[in-house]
Amino acid sequence: MDDLQYIQEPPALPEILAATEALGFTMASEARTGALLQVLAASKPAGRLLELGTGTGIATSWLLSGMDKKSTLISVDVSEEFQDVARRAFSSDPRVRFITQDAAAFLWCQPPSTFDLVFADAMTGKYEALDEALAVVKPGGFYVIDDMLPQPNWPEGHEKKIPVLQSELAQNPLFHVVPIVWASGIVIAVRK
Ligand SMILES: C[S@@+](CC[C@H](N)C(=O)[O-])C[C@H]1O[C@@H](n2cnc3c(N)ncnc32)[C@H](O)[C@@H]1O
Repeated sequence: MDDLQYIQEPPALPEILAATEALGFTMASEARTGALLQVLAASKPAGRLLELGTGTGIATSWLLSGMDKKSTLISVDVSEEFQDVARRAFSSDPRVRFITQDAAAFLWCQPPSTFDLVFADAMTGKYEALDEALAVVKPGGFYVIDDMLPQPNWPEGHEKKIPVLQSELAQNPLFHVVPIVWASGIVIAVRK
């Protein structure tokens, strides 16, 4: 099955991809991850969504394309340079707010159980501050991560962290968890 032919790309994606390439940003989410985020976002009408690690806004574009008019998204990144691409692309979309801040510092200030979907796409919120990221997920809400399968840009020794993270998630009594061999390797956790 040529799955990519059945995926509906966000209108803003080509512009963002061009800017991403021009910037030399190499940590971008792939289309299959985006398509999954799009359908998960669509399952949360009037949802409150969070992305940790905006990058240049690729997953942001997929999330926004699935969200309805009443949903909102906060996207956090430490890099103003990367995030500026996303800010420009979505300057007229009132549903999204970009925050330039360390993800852990952001999470520490959030009340518990306040987001319907968290896409944790920075090291922080996954390998650091995992409990803080899980704490902001509402009951019935999604915590989503990718890059669980070997990636060419992993730093040395990173592969050892994958089973540790996966088993930590699987053993968390507050979540149902499913690892999926899709795109770069996904885990979806749903808060009980
Ligand atoms: C994998 S990339 C994000 C890719 C993006 N979500 C996409 O769909 O293309 C990881 C991002 O996390 C950001 N980052 C790294 N450390 C961070 C931190 N402590 N807090 C917030 N963002 C961080 C990096 O600047 C980078 O843009």
